[in-house]
Amino acid sequence: MKTFILDVDTGVDDAFAILFAARHPEINLIGVTCVDGNTNLKQVVINTLKVLDASEAGAIPVGVGATRPLIDEPRYAEHVHGADGLADLGAPESKRVVDKRPAVELLRDLIEGSKDPVTLIPLAPLTNIALFLRSFPETAKKIERIVIMGGSASVGNATATAEFNIWHDPESAAIVFNSGIPITMYGLDVFMQLRMNAEHGKSLIASGHAPSVFGGQLIKTMCERLGYEITLGDYGAVATALFPELTKTERFRVGVDTTFGPNRGMTVCDRREKYAQEGDPNFAGEAFVDVVMEIDVEAMRNLWIETISRS
Ligand code: RIB
Ligand code: CA
Repeated sequence: MKTFILDVDTGVDDAFAILFAARHPEINLIGVTCVDGNTNLKQVVINTLKVLDASEAGAIPVGVGATRPLIDEPRYAEHVHGADGLADLGAPESKRVVDKRPAVELLRDLIEGSKDPVTLIPLAPLTNIALFLRSFPETAKKIERIVIMGGSASVGNATATAEFNIWHDPESAAIVFNSGIPITMYGLDVFMQLRMNAEHGKSLIASGHAPSVFGGQLIKTMCERLGYEITLGDYGAVATALFPELTKTERFRVGVDTTFGPNRGMTVCDRREKYAQEGDPNFAGEAFVDVVMEIDVEAMRNLWIETISRS
């Protein structure tokens, strides 16, 4: 059993991750915190509660976090995830109530209260995580590992060089990467590989099993909206945290470009052997990060389908 907390900006692929984390028998999902990103915070919270319902999850505390990045104005991704951030499926409103504590206090209490080591899995801009690290540094030291969906050792998606979660709030990302906590970066080098098509969606819908139907509707709707196969995206970071043996990683020094230039939000990965150990005084890259460079696509895809289909 592994103890996880997810930080989300629910969106469609955050939904795939929540469905999996809430339903896998070896995951103890002790909390979910919400932040603005794919869409505005209010909508992220609504979507997250709906997905927990669709997952048939228990009473998992949901914390409301930051409304916007530390410095930049919010820049959403509704062109990808739909106006409501959840493929405009019109899923039923949830009766769940968010936790009364702000996200950073919920994170503190969950980590302090856990008898087992906690893995923190941010699948969104890192604003909540940065604020938590600055607010409760002693508690932060108890985090076993942070497995981030974000960044890239290769290409960008929000811009030519920056991945959306880092680009949305580069300052927060820099704080997290420089925290000294062990970090795994599940970025765009593998993010797009867990592809699902409309046929996968139709098959899940045909099962009549509520969580599978919900997952299938998201897949089918998104494939039809976008006109191409979609990725299970954020889910891959949760699978990486649960079964790291399904991945191959390399350790690079990683720095976040927080300048206001064409590469703002880029995760600069120093892959030069020469500087790998002692570092390069001219390079902003800080701590070593375990960067996921390969995944077992078939195993991860089948794992997701099997897990959400569990009765
Ligand atoms: O770049 C992809 C990431 O940005 C995913 O986490 C997606 O949900 C958005 O948050
Ligand atoms: Ca996300």
